[in-house]
Amino acid sequence: MNKLPLIDIAGLRKSFGDNVVLKDIHLQVQRGQVVALIGPSGSGKSTLLRCINLLSVPEGGRITVGEQSIQFNGRQTALPGEKMLARFRASTGMVFQHFNLFPHMTALQNVMEGPLTVLRTPRAQAEASARELLGKVGLLDRAGYYPDKLSGGQKQRVAIARALAMKPAVMLFDEATSALDPELVGEVLHVIQDLAREGMTMILVTHEIGFAREVADQVVFMRDGVVVECGPPGVVIDHPRHEATRAFLGRFKAPAEEAAPGAAA
Ligand SMILES: Nc1ncnc2c1ncn2[C@@H]1O[C@H](COP(=O)(O)OP(=O)(O)O)[C@@H](O)[C@H]1O
Ligand SMILES: [Mg+2]
Repeated sequence: MNKLPLIDIAGLRKSFGDNVVLKDIHLQVQRGQVVALIGPSGSGKSTLLRCINLLSVPEGGRITVGEQSIQFNGRQTALPGEKMLARFRASTGMVFQHFNLFPHMTALQNVMEGPLTVLRTPRAQAEASARELLGKVGLLDRAGYYPDKLSGGQKQRVAIARALAMKPAVMLFDEATSALDPELVGEVLHVIQDLAREGMTMILVTHEIGFAREVADQVVFMRDGVVVECGPPGVVIDHPRHEATRAFLGRFKAPAEEAAPGAAA
């Protein structure tokens, strides 16, 4: 029974006006797998994550997360009712490049907010589990701090704890370290690595190719809205079969080590 993929994306299509951004995307993710999604800017990586979380509604295809499945048929798509939709969304936790923490709430309150308002978790229980999660990301001593008193790396770790508080089946990271100063990248990657070790199913959009090689079970290279190739890091990163993949990865080699994207400033 566990052979069924936790995430199954089939024939996914999404456009913005005339711009076809996702063209027939197929992707399967097994429970406990980490998928690194790489590719040039504009290739549709963020749109794909946003579709999985239903922040964007695709025109065609099917998305299955666990037992829940939605078929998209353009305007005819019968989106499930509010409650089902909320449940579908809650099954994926999203972490963005820009943390999007609530500025008027402490780290602890940020992590408690979803469970309190969406899951209707009793306050004492929400607080206990929020403290546990802050501990897990190494920030228990910052529980009472407001976001503007936290570093970028700390904010992002609070954002991860906040997403985990909803007990998602899958975590989606969209360039979670791209906005960070280089010296703060490591602490966030460390938390992601811990989650991988614990068996959390994750899709990471990342430009940290070395990290992707280390942590991913599957690497997916996208360009212009299509999956160009997909497989274990030892193949896609070390021995890519497609010229487009080689060209993209070539940018990360040698001198690019110091001038990794996002590090330029
Ligand atoms: N909300 C939107 N409205 C219109 N076009 C969009 C929107 N979001 C993304 N796009 C377009 O979709 C394409 C893919 O974008 P995106 O998914 O952000 O790529 P990536 O994350 O790989 O850089 C780009 O051409 C972008 O301009
Ligand atoms: Mg993006």
